[in-house]
Amino acid sequence: MADAPRAFVAGHPIGHSRSPLIHSEWLTRYGIDGVYSAIDVAPHDFPALLVDIRAGKWAGGNVTIPHKEAAFERADNRDEAADAIGAVNTLWVENGKLIGGNTDAYGFAANLDQRLSGWRDGETALVLGAGGASRAIVHALLEAGYRRIDIANRTLARAEQLAARFGEKVAAHYWNAADDLISSANLIVNTTSLGMVGQPPLELDLGSAPVGAMATDIVYVPLETPFLRSAAAAGLKTCDGLGMLLHQAAPGFARWFGRFPEVDEDLRAVVLSDLASVHAR
Ligand code: ATR
Repeated sequence: MADAPRAFVAGHPIGHSRSPLIHSEWLTRYGIDGVYSAIDVAPHDFPALLVDIRAGKWAGGNVTIPHKEAAFERADNRDEAADAIGAVNTLWVENGKLIGGNTDAYGFAANLDQRLSGWRDGETALVLGAGGASRAIVHALLEAGYRRIDIANRTLARAEQLAARFGEKVAAHYWNAADDLISSANLIVNTTSLGMVGQPPLELDLGSAPVGAMATDIVYVPLETPFLRSAAAAGLKTCDGLGMLLHQAAPGFARWFGRFPEVDEDLRAVVLSDLASVHAR
């Protein structure tokens, strides 16, 4: 009998990752004989991990900070999303080649498909922040058919780089422009760390948002961020960011363990109770 497939999440540090919890829940649920473990890999040890994958020691794995760009550069081939985003978060082997994919845009869209019906009907989106998460989200919004994406960021140069990467539908703005851009935004997305436990809140006056506007956040601790709370108070339909984390895990699981897993309320409950226990300490 072949050995049970093994997959990893590699980062440095890695202690905070929820990925082992998510994958273990699916392995147990589907009765799959597989292993998913968190491994702390310093940057200089990352190439050796790729050697181990190619040698069959691992079916593949997820990579997180600081390895997403190195994985992008060192994979033999990349999927379309990874190429568009410029980072890899999922590795697997196909016909002896190491493939790097990016599932963050998929995770963002799948979460909204499940919990924010109508989000694909929007034409204009306002994206707050221009970091790594923002890159994946801009890609997802373009794929979903958004015709205009305004990015507002504290550091204008980062927003400009992002806009240049994605072309004419994407425009860069100073952070202060967000207040004015709200009035034309069908969907507003926070991709900054503002509102996360321990960080200052994201404060925006959402009163001028168009009828039917929606809001979502990549922050999921707390689940209802100050931004989402004020969006709901202003009458916007909202969706929290936990589902993006859950959904981005699914394509990797399918590659390594052979079954596309479901993101449902039971999985959310498992992760939420873990988050509650960690943050109660
Ligand atoms: P990630 O890869 O998770 O997106 P990141 O690359 O560090 O993380 O990006 C964090 C984002 O949050 C950036 O857009 C950052 O703005 P800058 O590009 O100006 O650094 C934004 N951010 C973090 N703290 C912020 C603050 N206090 N006010 C406004 N934006 C903030």
